[in-house]
Amino acid sequence: MTMTRSVVLGCGSYLPEKVLTNAELAAKVDTSDEWIVQRTGIRERHIAAEGEFTSHLAIKAAQAALADAGVDAQSIDLIVLATSTPDNTFPASAVAVQNGLGINHGAAFDLQAVCSGFVFALATADSLLRSGNFRRALVIGAETFSRILDWSDRGTCVLFGDGAGAIVLDAQQQPGAPSDRGVLTTHLRSDGRHKAKLFVDGGPSSTQTVGHLRMEGREVFKHAVGMITDVIVDAFNATGTSAEDVDWFIPHQANKRIIDASAHKLHIAPQKVVLTVDRHGNTSAASIPLALCTAVADGRVKRGDLLLLEAMGGGFTWGSALVRW
Ligand code: ACO
Repeated sequence: MTMTRSVVLGCGSYLPEKVLTNAELAAKVDTSDEWIVQRTGIRERHIAAEGEFTSHLAIKAAQAALADAGVDAQSIDLIVLATSTPDNTFPASAVAVQNGLGINHGAAFDLQAVCSGFVFALATADSLLRSGNFRRALVIGAETFSRILDWSDRGTCVLFGDGAGAIVLDAQQQPGAPSDRGVLTTHLRSDGRHKAKLFVDGGPSSTQTVGHLRMEGREVFKHAVGMITDVIVDAFNATGTSAEDVDWFIPHQANKRIIDASAHKLHIAPQKVVLTVDRHGNTSAASIPLALCTAVADGRVKRGDLLLLEAMGGGFTWGSALVRW
């Protein structure tokens, strides 16, 4: 029996021009290239210019995704922007993106699930498309984490970067088989008992300031692999697939050690893992679409490939998705 699937028509990304290397960071805080590479795999990250906001990065990524998809902005009736670093407390940065693209129909809103934001946004857009209420969506992850970092805290400032990635999703009838194109399954989880392990110490209701990112890195690390692999097993069970069926594992890019350990536990071969954390750092909600676009642009991801996406972040939140390209 045929069914509606959210098929990916194209993807696009944008990274700010300025690159900040580990060596440059080591000149500012007590750290070293060796420590950062060994503990995280990160070598450099991009930093937004003064006056360059999250919505500006998101618009550039969205324009690239629309061009890659070969569709007009006017055909978009849904924009879901995953971000924890919006331009303003409100309105949603998604409406700035909508306006920047010249769209004034349909709906646009932000979604906040920290580093899991893109998977949460993908699941949300997929549900709205399959409900029949919308036909074509932009799902965007965009962040300017450089604006919420405490640049004197070496435990966090070396980890994050700025950037944006986007995909165009189109509601299409598919045969209703495992070989269908599009989003095959999504699995979302949260557990607020962990909220103090990774948070920003400010906000409109609490301090009336933006605040800075605070993290108990070791605690995050301790939970990450188990949570990630659990929710991936959920995705396999829901679709009757296994690690062997996965063509590309495109994880949230927080730390190479977490990615390697997750792939190892799931028996996913290292050559199937897409890694961009070395060049992008942790761009939170933007990291999965940035990694995805990198692997599409260099020809690794091909039509019909099965992609496994996963993320884990503040909250804690975590989630997985299986998508056939
Ligand atoms: N340079 C040099 N030394 C450092 C640095 C640094 N940048 N940062 C910390 N250290 C020191 C610490 O002070 C500590 O020194 P001490 O032993 O004298 O006290 C030592 O290094 C070890 O510190 P740990 O925090 O135990 O180091 P660890 O091996 O755990 O690595 C890291 C730290 C990289 C943060 C790791 O814990 C990690 O990656 N955690 C997960 C973070 C993550 O993935 N977050 C994802 C979600 S992000 C989101 O949702 C927004």
